[in-house]
Amino acid sequence: MAVKPVRRMGDPVLLARAQPVEKIPSPALDALIQDMKDTMTALDGAGLAAPQIGVPLRVVIFGVQANPRYPQVAEVPMTILINPVIEALSADEDEDWEGCLSVPGMRGLVPRHRRIRYRGVDAAGRPIDREVEGFHARVVQHECDHLDGILYPMRIRDLRHFGYETILFPDGVGAPD
Ligand code: NI
Repeated sequence: MAVKPVRRMGDPVLLARAQPVEKIPSPALDALIQDMKDTMTALDGAGLAAPQIGVPLRVVIFGVQANPRYPQVAEVPMTILINPVIEALSADEDEDWEGCLSVPGMRGLVPRHRRIRYRGVDAAGRPIDREVEGFHARVVQHECDHLDGILYPMRIRDLRHFGYETILFPDGVGAPD
């Protein structure tokens, strides 16, 4: 369909609570997901939430293939997740570096639950119910935060660990957006 402009931090749509999708499946939902996939692929992103292209609905997509740029990062299956619900499965948190297509060029050290269960449906309305950990759990938490108007810089505990990727990682080792 189309690569859409990605809204950047400061845009009110990124701070709003997104609304549940009520009709699944639907041609309008399929068109939104195609735009999200096209946009994420064009920008080489690890995930994207609908508000990032200006659509205030509870839809996220994510997926990471093995990538030589990020050898420390595990593969995450390409997933379309609608009306997600996340449940923490342990009190343990990990801190790791995150980036975001809405905060281009920056990286921050963000705490996330190490293990989560997430549920929702795919574009056909089929249920998704997974227990995941580590990087996969981090990506899901980051994307679902977008649906509640939360950007990762809001979760950084120590803002000394927030900066420009090229300064923080001059050798090019960082985290995917
Ligand atoms: Ni993001």
